Amino acid sequence: MIHVPAQSISVKKVEQSRVSTVDINAATMGIHFTDHMFVCDYENGQWSNPRIEQLAPIATHPSAMALHYGQAIFEGLKATMGKNGPVLFRPQMNAQRLNESAQRLGMPDFPEDLFVEALKQFVWIERNWVPTAPGSALYLRPFMYADEAFTGMRAATHYKFIIFATPAGPYFSKRIRLYAETNYIRAAAGGTGEAKAAGNYAAAIKPTELAKKHGYDQVLWLDARNFENILEVGTMNIFFKIDGKFITPNLDGTVLAGVTRNSVIALLKKKGFSVTERPISIHEIIEAEANNTLEEAFGTGTAVGIAMLDEIGYRDRSIKFPVGNPVGNEINMTLNQLKTQEIADEFGWIIQLP
Ligand code: COI
Repeated sequence: MIHVPAQSISVKKVEQSRVSTVDINAATMGIHFTDHMFVCDYENGQWSNPRIEQLAPIATHPSAMALHYGQAIFEGLKATMGKNGPVLFRPQMNAQRLNESAQRLGMPDFPEDLFVEALKQFVWIERNWVPTAPGSALYLRPFMYADEAFTGMRAATHYKFIIFATPAGPYFSKRIRLYAETNYIRAAAGGTGEAKAAGNYAAAIKPTELAKKHGYDQVLWLDARNFENILEVGTMNIFFKIDGKFITPNLDGTVLAGVTRNSVIALLKKKGFSVTERPISIHEIIEAEANNTLEEAFGTGTAVGIAMLDEIGYRDRSIKFPVGNPVGNEINMTLNQLKTQEIADEFGWIIQLP
């Protein structure tokens, strides 16, 4: 891995921060943006000019290749206010996953050291934007896209890597309802399902809008062949608890390798639960409901955190989840306490800033 000295990132701060104009503790994710952005350019086969500068629109050529051929990938992670100042949660995992996405889409790797160093410096500069309200965080969006002006189908030779940030409150404040999609698919073997590619989200927008029209919160994606095996939720991975044991779909190439998913598996195991990653048929969930062994289910994701499931609509039936006293809520609390340093980080997941 390339070591990036901190001083190689040039910094030009704004004269006046806008933070006092925003109620960051009541902010909905994606509405307000912080003062700065990190930018780095790729040309002649290398990344250059890493810089933190004022957040501003970027001129785009009409033939910028990302707009036409979709070479665009992104990440999401959060900075939270810990007891000793702002912290990052497992940024190295995002750095690795960005590069896995980049490889699938024929894009260049971004140096992992620089990814983490850029986040550290960027968040430290934006530290007054990190909310302190329970469940709130500064959501960080690293992304990479092809900005080369060229009309034709090939890998681009110019890219931009950017990080911006938006203060974010809790995503869902209630148990959610999912619509199991049986017309549209998100991913198939050999496709881009495990990449965090912008195009995956583009293909999900229409089915999600349809699901919302019918009163659901997000889509539950099923396998592309038979619409039976459960893959993931719109912006989350998914876990079920049946007869005291947890199961979650295995990473077979059609499922995003969620950082929260990975952390939840570790936390559940630490609490003594059995967690199995394997194919899960929706019929198994229907059967568990019928024989009263279906105990709970939840989605996991960076933006959402942990969202308890209320219901899944599948074809002409409804699968209901008991309210009870779910382990998912307990895990959510543990994750939040780790991120605010109310409990010790025995996993080495937290990066203290500066
Ligand atoms: C995240 O959870 O960070 C995501 O990328 C989901 C996003 C589409 C809101």
